[in-house]
Amino acid sequence: MKTSDISDNMVKTLADTGNLSDRELISLLLTNEYDDELKAAADRVRRERYGDEVYIRGLIEFTNYCKNNCYYCGIRRDNKNALRYRLEKEDILECCKEGYSLGFRTFVLQGGEDPYYTDALMCEIVSSIRENFPDCAITLSIGEKTRKAYEDFYRAGANRYLLRHETASPSHYAKLHPDSMSLENRKRCLFDLKDIGYQVGSGFMVGSPFQTTENLVEDIRFLQTLMPDMIGIGPYINHKQTPFASYENGSFELTLRLISILRLIFPYALIPATTALGTIHPSGREKGLEAGANVVMPNLSPVKVRRLYELYENKICTGEEAAQCRGCLERRVASAGYRIVTSVGNVKRQQV
Ligand code: 5AD
Ligand code: FES
Repeated sequence: MKTSDISDNMVKTLADTGNLSDRELISLLLTNEYDDELKAAADRVRRERYGDEVYIRGLIEFTNYCKNNCYYCGIRRDNKNALRYRLEKEDILECCKEGYSLGFRTFVLQGGEDPYYTDALMCEIVSSIRENFPDCAITLSIGEKTRKAYEDFYRAGANRYLLRHETASPSHYAKLHPDSMSLENRKRCLFDLKDIGYQVGSGFMVGSPFQTTENLVEDIRFLQTLMPDMIGIGPYINHKQTPFASYENGSFELTLRLISILRLIFPYALIPATTALGTIHPSGREKGLEAGANVVMPNLSPVKVRRLYELYENKICTGEEAAQCRGCLERRVASAGYRIVTSVGNVKRQQV
């Protein structure tokens, strides 16, 4: 329903100004009426900045132990059915070596918040990767740490950090996480990381339990204050061994709509077509690229542990070798009309 203070030309206004009012964003999020227009505008903006380039990041899921207990996550501490694993430094370096030969120039070390990897051990792992692969970007995605730890990792050679804020509403945050976690500390981490000099990635799940359309607007507003280099979003996907076992998955269409909206608000951003998107729809990642995403993150973890990093059910790519995933993605990206490039793939804050 269009009302007088909602412009008839929301997509054009969004593309031209990079912003809309809260009411306009809400009405855009609630309808599929403008999806084609949004997608076309997002693709145009993305091509202006990044051409047809898609950057690849080699994801190494090095531990599924986690001290936290997020209600949505399959590797939460209280999931006693999860088979736990850790990769040693040598295993991680082996993954990087294989990844390097496949053309990866960014390694993403992702894991649960696992106290086994002390700050000192993480520094040691990062320094070894830095020494062996001086021309690569090292991205960490290991959760909330002290400012001092973030500074030490940075000095050891890490240059990017992924930490989704998950939801920018404190009351919604409290419905997704136990009391031991707070949105306030999450934000503190993100601003510390940025201040230290990391390229920072944040983001949220689409359709997580109790999420409202207003919450999504709050997420966008938060991102506009953080101005992260990378923005990762994906649909919430159910995991039976969590307190959210009975909740429905997030919407595929809404996720695509949000990717387009984010591309228009943040033309410079590195936005992945996520594994979760590929999990709820067979051509999810291709559609994500068409909607404005420009990054894919294939798995470099050893095949024997892949199935175990089960944040949500039916996760794709758990049976393939790194080389297979690389080839598969090459074809998928090409079929969407884009091209994988093997550069480090830094953010382009300015239009070229
Ligand atoms: N469904 C979708 N995404 C999830 N994540 C964690 N659990 C789920 C789930 N059940 C996402 C979170 C986290 C990222 C690594 O994975 O947003 O930050
Ligand atoms: Fe992993 Fe297709 S991307 S098998």
